[in-house]
Amino acid sequence: MIKIAPSILSADFSKLGSDVEAADKGGADYIHVDVMDGHFVPNITIGPLVVKSLRKITKKPLDTHLMITDPEKYIPRFAEAGSDYLTVHIETCPDILRTIKLIKSLNVKAGLTLNPATPFDTLLPALEHIDLLLIMTVQPGFGAQSFMENQLSKIERARDEKERGGFKYEIEVDGGINMETIKRVNSAGGEVMVAGNAVFGKGTIAENIRLLKEIA
Ligand code: DX5
Ligand code: ZN
Repeated sequence: MIKIAPSILSADFSKLGSDVEAADKGGADYIHVDVMDGHFVPNITIGPLVVKSLRKITKKPLDTHLMITDPEKYIPRFAEAGSDYLTVHIETCPDILRTIKLIKSLNVKAGLTLNPATPFDTLLPALEHIDLLLIMTVQPGFGAQSFMENQLSKIERARDEKERGGFKYEIEVDGGINMETIKRVNSAGGEVMVAGNAVFGKGTIAENIRLLKEIA
């Protein structure tokens, strides 16, 4: 059974609490929180204060995706705010093993991700140390973009490496996941599906989550 991680980037921020509660009650497995700094990606979103507020209204794992330069500077604050997972971009980490160690030392699960243009091989030394491997299927920065079909092979590679190495990471996929693409992502090896627009865009939040799980 796949997991769904609704991305709050597509929620209505004027009623973020009730949107997240609806996702929680509607069967969300994780709550995906997109943190953007206007440097690593051309958009600015939220910081640890919002994570801290969400922590009060849901017990679901908070899956924080850091699209920021110099993540080590902010990791302790996002951990303290209540993140269960902290996922960093390999492009932002000069010493990825050190960053993973830092995340784990704060009793948070360590996630690793990469931009669509970054080769999978850059991740190899870290695979045995991570809890979550996030494959981006859009250029990070914005919700509601089209799914990049050419990243399917990267999801397959993540699955093959996991099997071969006996690694424990969950394979999460982020970007353009909807009723039409989710089946292909599942077949390629995706286990946790981030979905922003497909959950919060139109219709009912709970019904959207239910349908995504049913179709996958
Ligand atoms: C993109 C973010 C995604 C985004 C996904 O930079 O990392 O989590 O919110 O949104 P959808 O599902 O609408 O593509
Ligand atoms: Zn994300």
